[in-house]
Amino acid sequence: MSTEENIISVLSEKRTFSPHESFIKQANLNKSEYDRLILKANTDLEGFWDELAENNIFWFKKWEKVLDWNEPFSKWFVGAKTNISYNCLDRHLRNKANKTALIWIGENGEKKELTYKELFSEVCKFSNSLLKLGIKELDRVIIYMPLIPEAVVAMLACARIGAIHSVVFGGFSKEALADRINDAKARLVITADGGYRRGQVVPLKSNVDEALKKCPTIENVIVVQRVGVCHDKPLHFNVSINRGRDIFYHDLVSKESEVSEPHLLDSEHPLFTLYTSGTTGKPKGILHTTGGYILWATVTTKWIFDIKDTDVYWCTADIGWITGHTYVVYGPLSCGATVLLYEGAPNYPDWAIFWKIINENKVSVFYTAPTAIRSFMKAGDEWVKKYNLSSLRLLGSVGEPINPEAWMWYHENIGAKKCPIVDTWWQTETGGILISPLPGITVTKPGSATFPLPGIFASVVDQDGNSVGPNEGGSLVIKKPWPSMLRTIYGDDERYKKNYWSQIKGAYFAGDGARCDEDGYFWILGRVDDVIKVSGHRLSTMEIESALVSHHDVAEAAVVGYPHDIKGEAICAFVVLKSNVTARSVGDEAVPIGIASPSARNDIKLIEKLKQHVVKEIGPIAKPDQIKFTDSLPKTRSGKIMRRLLRDIASGKQTTGDTTTLEDVSVLEKLRIEEE
Ligand code: PRX
Repeated sequence: MSTEENIISVLSEKRTFSPHESFIKQANLNKSEYDRLILKANTDLEGFWDELAENNIFWFKKWEKVLDWNEPFSKWFVGAKTNISYNCLDRHLRNKANKTALIWIGENGEKKELTYKELFSEVCKFSNSLLKLGIKELDRVIIYMPLIPEAVVAMLACARIGAIHSVVFGGFSKEALADRINDAKARLVITADGGYRRGQVVPLKSNVDEALKKCPTIENVIVVQRVGVCHDKPLHFNVSINRGRDIFYHDLVSKESEVSEPHLLDSEHPLFTLYTSGTTGKPKGILHTTGGYILWATVTTKWIFDIKDTDVYWCTADIGWITGHTYVVYGPLSCGATVLLYEGAPNYPDWAIFWKIINENKVSVFYTAPTAIRSFMKAGDEWVKKYNLSSLRLLGSVGEPINPEAWMWYHENIGAKKCPIVDTWWQTETGGILISPLPGITVTKPGSATFPLPGIFASVVDQDGNSVGPNEGGSLVIKKPWPSMLRTIYGDDERYKKNYWSQIKGAYFAGDGARCDEDGYFWILGRVDDVIKVSGHRLSTMEIESALVSHHDVAEAAVVGYPHDIKGEAICAFVVLKSNVTARSVGDEAVPIGIASPSARNDIKLIEKLKQHVVKEIGPIAKPDQIKFTDSLPKTRSGKIMRRLLRDIASGKQTTGDTTTLEDVSVLEKLRIEEE
């Protein structure tokens, strides 16, 4: 069958892909064990979790009770003691001390490998350093770093001593960093002098310096020299050092012992907070705890990524996102895998870099995002063909719906039609994957995340919580608690209850629409709230609106997502300027050549200023693709912005649906005229 024929049949959802016999034979989870697990979960759910916890995690002390459920608050493995860093490191030292734990590749081609023994020593040294600085259990530590081994060491060291880490993506601005530090009331920031991004240096340390002007709780900053040459040579990249507050990482660890006792932590001891966008302007600190999180991270890595001792596993996520937490660091290391880390972007120095890395390092399991796959498709197959990808045996996708065309391209061009593809659905809040194919069992349909995993009770329901029929759209909910679920929003139990547990009675709902087809396959339809997914990054429309209205020229703003071929969704902002400002009246600096009318020239200048303002407030990932000026915004009589109408306008569609609640119907007409 040709690719085109495939796509046509795929689009009609008739085409299915079964795992190859050779994969089935060696899979970590086989059909009979799967059937047993499903039966066990259906008949004795606590027994099911008890058995998994017993078989997959090392506990210093066993639990008295599997689950304490006081909806919506859960406690898992009550009374048990464990340590995640012990599970990721110490327990492998007997059999895997000399096995490679991390293969790190820098953007400029450097390569470093650490065995489990070496990673253990680094983590112990850094744990000792943190303790010497006075970091105690439950203290909050911010990690704002490039993707370098020290970032993984920092996470594991916090986990070892019971400090709560909060990784802030290195692409976030100093403003966004300051907000997160203040919300967490953190004592320590771990950063680097800078990080590389497409040949440029991202000035992480100077962003920290700026942010800290507003952050009174920070006592120390630890700085890894990433860009400045190594510490026995003179520093090339100057960063300012605030004596008494800032300390170089290498100075700290050089004095420390290579052994550090793991703290015996309660199963519910907080492990990390990770800030993510919700439906308001303020990011929420999603809190995950110890025992339940590491259990599900470990089990899903074994089942879904089929990790074997011989694998070289590469998940392309940054540690600033949940995927980087669960499936770069904790899950794979707990399974004793060899994990590849790549610091750079997929298109630098060119579009072949990922395939070169796979070829040279014999990567066997590869996990990436649909946006990346669509960009590779657009860049052209010739980049892929330059390298031998025959080491690959399993592919994964995460972060947004994968369109069937991208799925087919991934299957044919990267997976050579032999690798199973696991399209994994989950969220920052869920801690681990909840809906996904199992590679040795599930017959896949391109574009569908297939079925909930054993132990996960997912369903598609209407507003009253009743299941909808086959192919009817509804809300995706999880009906029973699971061990890696978020415990709360840091410092805000009420918001946690309201956001996730009050919209649909008795179930967890985090904002996705879905449908199940007649065979029971789940198809995720995307967010139904004011969250948008741009290149797989999760952004709140309200957060971008807040950034825009903080500009002195802006009176009001409404932000919507609209479909984009590569990014999945792009950002369009409708902006109402203050009455004393018109796009025309702004500034008289040089303007791009070749722009006709004076008003258009000034529009462009103001548009660029506003875009840069959003970059400054949040970071480059939130930069609007389009800004449209308007006199007013379409609102309901109760004052709510009618985003549905704006979405239609942004995507060039005819406005559909009910507009009867529109307060000022002429607004829509005006927006349309401006559009033309
Ligand atoms: O809309 C869903 C989408 O990503 C959202 C969660 O985003 P975040 O918390 O940033 O975590 C991303 C990585 C786990 C979900 O609400 N999403 C995630 N995976 C998929 C997906 N949408 C469709 N298919 C997926 N496989």
